Amino acid sequence: MPKGAQQQIETLRDELRHHEHLYYVLDAPAISDAEYDSMMSRLKALEAEHPELVTQDSPTQRVGGKPREGFAKTAHSRPMLSLDNAYNEAELRAWERRVRDALPAGERVQYVCELKLDGLSLALHYEPAEDGSAQLVRGLTRGDGTTGEDVTSNVRTIRSVPLRVAPGKLESAKLPASFELRGEVVLPQAAFLKMNEDRVAQGLAPAANPRNAAAGTIRTLEPNIVAQRRLDFYAYFLLHGAQDGAQRGEFLMPTQSEALEALRTAGFRVNANTTHANSIDEVLNFVEKAEGLRDALGYEIDGVVVKVDSGAQQRRLGFTGKAPRWAIAFKFAARAGLTKLEDVLFQVGRTGKVTPVAALSPVLIGGTTVSRATLHNADEIARLGVRMGDFVQVERGGDVIPKITHVIEDKQHRRGTREIEFPTKCPACGTALVKVEGEVDWRCINANCPARLREELRHFGSRSVMNIEGLGDAMVAQLLGQKLDEQTDALTEEEAAVEQAESEDPASPAKQALVRTLADLYRLKKSELLQLERVGEKSAQALLEEIERSKQAGLARVLLGLGIRFVGERTAQLLAGHFGSMDAILEAGAEELEQVNEVGPKVAQAIVEFFAEDKNRELVRQLQEAGVAMTAEKRIAGTKLAGQTFVLTGTLPTMTREAAKEMIEAAGGRVSGSVSKKTNYLVAGEDAGSKLDKARELGVPVLDEDGLQQLVKG
Ligand code: IVH
Repeated sequence: MPKGAQQQIETLRDELRHHEHLYYVLDAPAISDAEYDSMMSRLKALEAEHPELVTQDSPTQRVGGKPREGFAKTAHSRPMLSLDNAYNEAELRAWERRVRDALPAGERVQYVCELKLDGLSLALHYEPAEDGSAQLVRGLTRGDGTTGEDVTSNVRTIRSVPLRVAPGKLESAKLPASFELRGEVVLPQAAFLKMNEDRVAQGLAPAANPRNAAAGTIRTLEPNIVAQRRLDFYAYFLLHGAQDGAQRGEFLMPTQSEALEALRTAGFRVNANTTHANSIDEVLNFVEKAEGLRDALGYEIDGVVVKVDSGAQQRRLGFTGKAPRWAIAFKFAARAGLTKLEDVLFQVGRTGKVTPVAALSPVLIGGTTVSRATLHNADEIARLGVRMGDFVQVERGGDVIPKITHVIEDKQHRRGTREIEFPTKCPACGTALVKVEGEVDWRCINANCPARLREELRHFGSRSVMNIEGLGDAMVAQLLGQKLDEQTDALTEEEAAVEQAESEDPASPAKQALVRTLADLYRLKKSELLQLERVGEKSAQALLEEIERSKQAGLARVLLGLGIRFVGERTAQLLAGHFGSMDAILEAGAEELEQVNEVGPKVAQAIVEFFAEDKNRELVRQLQEAGVAMTAEKRIAGTKLAGQTFVLTGTLPTMTREAAKEMIEAAGGRVSGSVSKKTNYLVAGEDAGSKLDKARELGVPVLDEDGLQQLVKG
């Protein structure tokens, strides 16, 4: 029967792929979004009727399973290096001389100039499928350059990354079905601004810049969140794939120009602002052109990458320790401006950290008016030697928050006279500030400090935490009996400090506080809410319903909401999945906590310390009593491999690394990223590298895939 259905499904998939390519790779859509959506709905409906026909490379399958316990570490086929930088023409010319000196005299050298995209690099692995197409099997972050994190499920959501390359396209691109490519993930500025707008509306700190936002996004444990963020991927490197045996990781094309062309032909997004140059003068022309384009691109770039075009020359030039000799990054000068430091404001964050924020005379830098800059902490003020009234150089990278780089000390600019005094008492509650030995930040340790409580509540109610709509800044202030600030952007910690610094003295309580701890939220009565300004029957009811609903937010969000140091969204999710209940976490010692993936001694210690405080235990108890759910779905782990640590390396014949990891963990074992004396087994596949050597050196038993299967099942 499904013959007809299969045909229809295949046709729809091909059409959707074609339109995705036009839209996401070529920026040249041929149909409306509505037409695309309707085609996608038809495909989804057909696939729902015929689940047996669903394939991994179907356009419906971009958001799939999510990694439960973080990302597996995987070795790169060859290191992902960085680039040496040139900051001016002289340095670029010096590089050219070094290139020429290393090659036979008189040999012609040609260059490829590409934009230096300010994102993060990824390696994508494609391997042949039965139908002769190449399938995306793995996406890795750069990691430490040698080993990256397997973020395949997130990479699959990036629309400009094809899930498969059809045999016909491989043929026209002259590509084998096994290849690896590298390139840059970027978050377009519009998507970045939108994401930050959402975050601020939710009471979260905005990401500092698109690069950080992209890096955070690609490591999110929820592929559907990644899918919403609209990351983009540009390819710039083409290498032999895993099935090319000895050639693995080697350049696949004789020249970089041909590699880019092949990538383009195969359907990848290659940046259009790329040029071939016959001389350094031509390179410099391109640099100038690129600088002119910079503000109109819609994504951040921080320079131009110049590469020697010929692969043969590249091989002869080789690498220094950390960078190729055959390429260099020509970095643009930072966007900067000069202005006067008018004042310094001190902002208290959720954890009590006090952040100094510079109030500047407004200055236009790269199209944006800047009037605030972060000063980070007392050490930074000392390092800069800045005084009130000084003229300062302010830089704005791709960052949201500008920073002061240095004080201007020349004849035209009079130095300020007044020292900046870091407060000794909390500006909000007057408690003496404390600095922990070895840390740079001064903190207010008054757990009931109104400024801290305000930030805690904002955080707790925000969308990615307990998601209590209606618990906005104005409501938080009223619940705490505080005055409404004029400027109440709900940002946290340092980034927030910049935005909030203007809010003067939230200490003077205007009215009686309805809320003194997070648990009080769950005891609010409608009659109390109705006494507040601008709160009517309807909004009071709506808020109470939202608060009620938040009780089911789940353990991970509650953990996040408690504001334990170092416990962010990701760690909270991992802890919740591992322990399954708050009670189990409360009982766990540091050692047990460290069993959780990605929880190291520092984080474990912070958790133990947090729960060692009576006040915090009491808060948890009260939340529990109020009916806040504190459980999570727990992986029911077997016990066969309990207490045993495994390390995976190389490519296994039939299992993906994720699958092997899941199998080990399901049997109670643990997967670690590096081989040590504590490793019980190394599971090695094809092309195992340094980990295999290390295991042999330490006498760690080595298993292949069969061996692992037997161990688990046998
Ligand atoms: S080639 C072997 N090309 O810049 C060196 N890198 O500073 C490989 N980058 O880690 C890099 N745009 O993340 C190359 N067109 C481009 C690039 C680019 C951005 C990034 C990349 C790399 C960093 C090095």
